Amino acid sequence: MKRYRSIMLALTALSAVACCGSAEEPLAIIPVPQETVRGEGHFEMPEVVTYATDLTGSERDDLRSWMSVCPVAFAEAGDAQSAVLTLSLGEGAAPESYRLEIAPARIAIAGGDAAGIFYGLQTLLQLRDQFGGRIPALTISDAPRFGYRGMMLDVSRHFRSKEFVKRQLDLMARYKLNRFHWHLTDGAGWRIEIKSHPQLTDFAAWRPYADWDGWNYGGKRYCHRDDPEARGGYYTQDDIREVVEYARLRHITVIPEIEMPGHSEEVLAVYPDLACSRQPYVNSDYCIGNEATFRFVEDVLSEVIELFPSKYIHIGGDEASKGGWRSCPRCRARMRSEGLKDVDELQSYMIRRVEKFLNAKGRDLIGWDEILEGGLAPNATVMSWRGVEGGIAAAEQGHHAVMTPSGYCYLDFCQDDPTREPPAAAAFLTLRQAYSYDPVPDTLPAHVKPMILGVQGNLWCEHVPTDEHAEHMLWPRMLAIAEVAWSPVANKDYDDFRLRALQTVRWMQERGYHPFDLAQEVGPRPESLEPVQCLSTGKKVVCEPSYHAKYPAAGDGSLTDGLRGDWNYGDRRWQGWLDTDVRLTVDLESRRPIRRIAADFMQGFFADIWMPRAVRFSVSDDGTEFRQLGEVENDVPFEFRQDCYRTFAWEGADEARYVRIEALSNGHPGGWIFTDEFIVE
Ligand code: ACM
Repeated sequence: MKRYRSIMLALTALSAVACCGSAEEPLAIIPVPQETVRGEGHFEMPEVVTYATDLTGSERDDLRSWMSVCPVAFAEAGDAQSAVLTLSLGEGAAPESYRLEIAPARIAIAGGDAAGIFYGLQTLLQLRDQFGGRIPALTISDAPRFGYRGMMLDVSRHFRSKEFVKRQLDLMARYKLNRFHWHLTDGAGWRIEIKSHPQLTDFAAWRPYADWDGWNYGGKRYCHRDDPEARGGYYTQDDIREVVEYARLRHITVIPEIEMPGHSEEVLAVYPDLACSRQPYVNSDYCIGNEATFRFVEDVLSEVIELFPSKYIHIGGDEASKGGWRSCPRCRARMRSEGLKDVDELQSYMIRRVEKFLNAKGRDLIGWDEILEGGLAPNATVMSWRGVEGGIAAAEQGHHAVMTPSGYCYLDFCQDDPTREPPAAAAFLTLRQAYSYDPVPDTLPAHVKPMILGVQGNLWCEHVPTDEHAEHMLWPRMLAIAEVAWSPVANKDYDDFRLRALQTVRWMQERGYHPFDLAQEVGPRPESLEPVQCLSTGKKVVCEPSYHAKYPAAGDGSLTDGLRGDWNYGDRRWQGWLDTDVRLTVDLESRRPIRRIAADFMQGFFADIWMPRAVRFSVSDDGTEFRQLGEVENDVPFEFRQDCYRTFAWEGADEARYVRIEALSNGHPGGWIFTDEFIVE
């Protein structure tokens, strides 16, 4: 037998089509299994695959239900001897693990439990899609690295149909993801029917705007569902039950998120008494001094608990402004009566109280890492998004954590050349970067490691109005996160993964999905790959004023270090200034002939990064008296939503020792200017 650790880099795979590879072709399974041993010969897949299983009762029924809608025709064999596929429970095997043996005459899957059998079948289906009816003989032994392998979808900013959600659940199951975190409520819309509070879905689920952008920049109003302008939607309780059951049959737990105490503008618009101001459209946080807030939250959570069997109920907890609480008489009274020293403790009071409510109903609370502020509720699990520190801090305190640091797991960030990509959140996450994440690196202390339950990819949808766009953001980066979550670190190899992802993207496209077209990936900004060598390289630059402490790039020499920036202003090559004109002066150390002076600037609408209004070029012999050579005006409109990059340059013939570039602020308050290199030729 030949032993393969995983798929090896065979150039032939680059041209392989999504179906029917040759038997020698490397396996394209995602996530890469723990161990694969190739055998001799093939299994010829019949039209109808007869199977026998020792699963019983509801587990057997569930398997049958899933098989009835799966793309392969399965039929239960009269007796185990006549079955070509046996599905059995492996004695002593770990939950979700499986062993898949494909021999020329038969296939056997032994799972640690029903989920393990299901995952063995997923691997089999991937092999069938790669090799067609002729699957190479092999044995795979496989088990997940983490028990929590999640994907979050924000349906508040833009509502998505239950059919869309189910199509993503199909992919999640195929790639062995097992937690669907459904972000059902947020300031931009309430998406779940609550029978005790019909106004939530009569009003807070609808907006008189085409999309989130229109809502966010157009007054943030809601409207009645009967308004002719109404856009939005919500899931009825029957819809929710249908999706939860659909997920369950695919071994996916749906974790609902009901936001509190912040991100709740939509609730406060219909129930202003729950806001500190008692006015709609003023606050985004619930008033924690008002008992009615707790009655409302408990009413909602009671119905949520009935709908979702998940152990975890996500209560948000992120980004409360806490502003209204400081001056609110009811909140101040609460702080006095409960002995809370600040608004962080006031928030913690609410989270603890809600946790008590959930625990009494047999559920556990999970929240974003801000729930650490003011003290963590006794049994809470933390979802770490502002980096990994929150998750580690929770684990240090003996709490469980799910890792979803934005720098590796936020799928609303742009994934490739932003000038070609649709508008995205003001940050960057390539497939490679997502793949590189290790939620439990060796450097973590031993007592912290077991507290990290797993990892999750998050799709926030402010900038994602359509279903096609959502799939473009989710896939293939969720494939990378699936492999981070499932596969042993020793089996990970980005180049190898990318080849498998290319095939998988093709497979998705053939089935009507809209993943990012990885085959067309641009990769890093070309300029960032070619060091510059010019008259100013290595020379001293004086920046007036000094660059902002948050965006120093590589510090004082950064603008003449020969290194140009990548697409991402946070890559430590772009230097930034806030709310100011910028004057940069280079001393060439002697009088030199000059043909060109240039600098690149970028615009990132959602990061408040603007092109300069104009850029002036001047020179001097003494460093005091400057002669202006030219001025170039900006031609990128303020409203332009897509990130873009422009070179501002003067060309001519002159001679001087000192060269100056002045970038004039476009005057929008809170606006940044970013540049990456000062070029003199
Ligand atoms: C978050 O991104 N506010 C959890």
